[in-house]
Amino acid sequence: SDALRIGVAGLGTVGASVVRLLQEHGDQLARKSGRPVRVSAVSARDRGRDRGVDLSSMAWFDDPVAMARSADIDIFVELVGGESGAAEDSVRAALQRGLHVVTANKALLAKHGVDLALLAEQHNACLNYEAAVAGGIPIVKTMRESLSGNAVSRVYGILNGTCNYILTRMEDEGLSFEACLADAQRLGYAEADPTFDIEGFDTAHKLAILTSLAFGTKISSDTIYVEGITSITTADIHAASELGYRIKLLGVAQRTESGIEQRVHPTMVPKSSAIARIDGVLNAVAVDGDFVGEVILVGPGAGGKATASSVVADIADIARGDETPVLGTPAAELDDYVRAGMRKH
Ligand code: HSE
Repeated sequence: SDALRIGVAGLGTVGASVVRLLQEHGDQLARKSGRPVRVSAVSARDRGRDRGVDLSSMAWFDDPVAMARSADIDIFVELVGGESGAAEDSVRAALQRGLHVVTANKALLAKHGVDLALLAEQHNACLNYEAAVAGGIPIVKTMRESLSGNAVSRVYGILNGTCNYILTRMEDEGLSFEACLADAQRLGYAEADPTFDIEGFDTAHKLAILTSLAFGTKISSDTIYVEGITSITTADIHAASELGYRIKLLGVAQRTESGIEQRVHPTMVPKSSAIARIDGVLNAVAVDGDFVGEVILVGPGAGGKATASSVVADIADIARGDETPVLGTPAAELDDYVRAGMRKH
């Protein structure tokens, strides 16, 4: 059958890895998804930069919005980043044209996810975002599809690779916060603005998406209590250790009698717990479902190759003709978000 044509907007760590993965594993992917997949357009700011991949056969666009509007593609892959601006404009333009969209952009979804889901569903387009939550871990598919028979009471986990990498190395090697952050940036784990990682906002963006998937509610990111790891010292880490705990940055969402509670903060977890053993750039997500019990997924939460693995899985789902609602529940049927402890007037 005809090749599925992909346009990749954003050629940073993740974008270059997506192009490379599709070039290296294109044959296997075509067999598994039933359709050949080909990158036919790319967009980035600097055309001259060497990204270690051959882009010569692809149409080049300086502007992602222009690519979304006019490129000859079937799937628009948004790896530009940012909660609005070119990322938002290009995704909207693509969906309005009826193109399928794959994105790794948690900030965009945390802010505009319900709107974009509505737009996608109105245009019979897919909007897939496995890479937006916990990098290489297939948690979106797990929650959206595999656990859809359960009533979920809680979802929590380590959702930021940069923070977990910093906390792990501070504990194991006694290194300073700054030195660990610099290494995380060098390894391509951190956001363009690392404040999002270390102040907890990136975890909050991912948690907001998981909460909607868990409870069938509209995404609500500005109601989350957020505290990052910038005030954690090696002395804190060692004091916790002597008491039998490790410090982890957790995102937690749970259903309570008065509504849903969402919070992000450093947490002391007993060394004997599964979550305490998640080291370095690994993430972990735990989901409590009433029939299944607790499911925990562990894997790399950041990095170009791991994140590209999820982007390509989303492309394969589209190639197979998957039609799952964007947020598990059709966007027009999502419940209103009610924050725990808030009085209704
Ligand atoms: N900066 C993010 C992290 C990348 O460190 O987890 C993946 O979203």
